[in-house]
Amino acid sequence: MTAPTRRTFLASLAAAGAVAPLAAHAERLLPRRTKAPQSILVLGGTGFLGPHFVRAALANGHKVTLFNRGKTNPGLFKDLEQLHGDREKGDLEALKGKAFDAVVDTSGYVPAHVEATAKLFAENCKHYQFISTISVYGSFGDRPDSIDESTETSSVDDDKVQKVNLIKEAMPFYGPLKARCEAAAEAGMPGRVSTIRPGLIVGPGDTSDRFTWWPVRIDKGGEVLCPGDQDGHVQFVDVRDLADWMLHCIEQNVTGVYNATGFHGRVSMAELLGACKCNTSTPVTLTWASEEFLQENKVQPYMQMPCWIPREGRSVIQTEKAQQKGLKFRPIADTIRDTLQWAKTERGDKPFARTGLKPEREAELLAKWKELQKAAATKAR
Ligand SMILES: NC(=O)c1ccc[n+]([C@@H]2O[C@H](COP(=O)([O-])OP(=O)(O)OC[C@H]3O[C@@H](n4cnc5c(N)ncnc54)[C@H](OP(=O)(O)O)[C@@H]3O)[C@@H](O)[C@H]2O)c1
Repeated sequence: MTAPTRRTFLASLAAAGAVAPLAAHAERLLPRRTKAPQSILVLGGTGFLGPHFVRAALANGHKVTLFNRGKTNPGLFKDLEQLHGDREKGDLEALKGKAFDAVVDTSGYVPAHVEATAKLFAENCKHYQFISTISVYGSFGDRPDSIDESTETSSVDDDKVQKVNLIKEAMPFYGPLKARCEAAAEAGMPGRVSTIRPGLIVGPGDTSDRFTWWPVRIDKGGEVLCPGDQDGHVQFVDVRDLADWMLHCIEQNVTGVYNATGFHGRVSMAELLGACKCNTSTPVTLTWASEEFLQENKVQPYMQMPCWIPREGRSVIQTEKAQQKGLKFRPIADTIRDTLQWAKTERGDKPFARTGLKPEREAELLAKWKELQKAAATKAR
């Protein structure tokens, strides 16, 4: 395997829905509203974000219908109307002639799929909500502190777009194709689309383990290898805050393009991991190794060291626009506590296959780091 270049590394962060900071803010969720119930179709609804949105909508008295292939978590939401079809096969028969107040598209990755559904509902639906991603911005580190909704999105050649039909074929061009999907939604229903660009989505039910690693690893106790700059910022959004705000946008007919990731102000890696430490009664020591050390030892940012993005790849995603329209963040402590609770129950004790370090590798790196520190101290004397 060849070593990743800076460009491919940044692209992989983008594809992973990566990037940035926490804010220590603790306002409660949006209050439950009493608007007239709406009929809402979710294109998807049974993975990670979808179920949280469905539960938020049902809790507010709305009528929810799901459209999917019936493959992912088929036992979920048995009491709801479930329509089946396959976007990859162009099979939208079950949707034809149906009308909804709003359509929420959590499963759009291929522009042609989004074009088809936005066109289909242009006459029969008031509001189309497209769940996009901050990965539309492509590389991050070149533009620290400056990514807002007006920042140019990344592009992909037309011939590549035309060749993509399966969702898995879209993954190598995840960000630019999501940007094309946004455009397809807007073209189908001009002025009636809320385009939401989340950063890393975390919380109970997140099977990607890209955040869950930290609450779980720190709860196990002992000496924990921590990444680089203690001051390096992190950003993510609790899936429940995102779901509540998606619903708020539908209820209040909020349209336009919005970044949706945390937080009010910056949250550092040290604050995040410190909060994980405060969430456990297991004795634990956090040992911070420099970014240079981790890079020399080929520790893969973001996946092997979750939430860690080396200095040169970091940016801050601005989210004031969404906050002005009601996006709120629960206390990070709640996200950590509930994620750990979910991990200990529903997720279970299965190993972290895709994220984090194996215990022996972590121990080896800790020993090496301490040797280096000792040698440096001896030299300095
Ligand atoms: N996770 C992150 O950190 C992150 C970050 C930024 C943005 N996002 C975006 O957030 C969204 C979250 O997605 P999610 O997976 O959690 O949503 P979800 O709605 O909970 O789950 C995906 C749904 O899509 C359905 N589906 C998959 N392939 C389909 C097909 N060919 N035709 C019809 N339905 C199909 C699945 O059901 P069946 O398999 O039964 O068809 C499932 O119900 C995505 O748009 C992603 O790009 C995620």
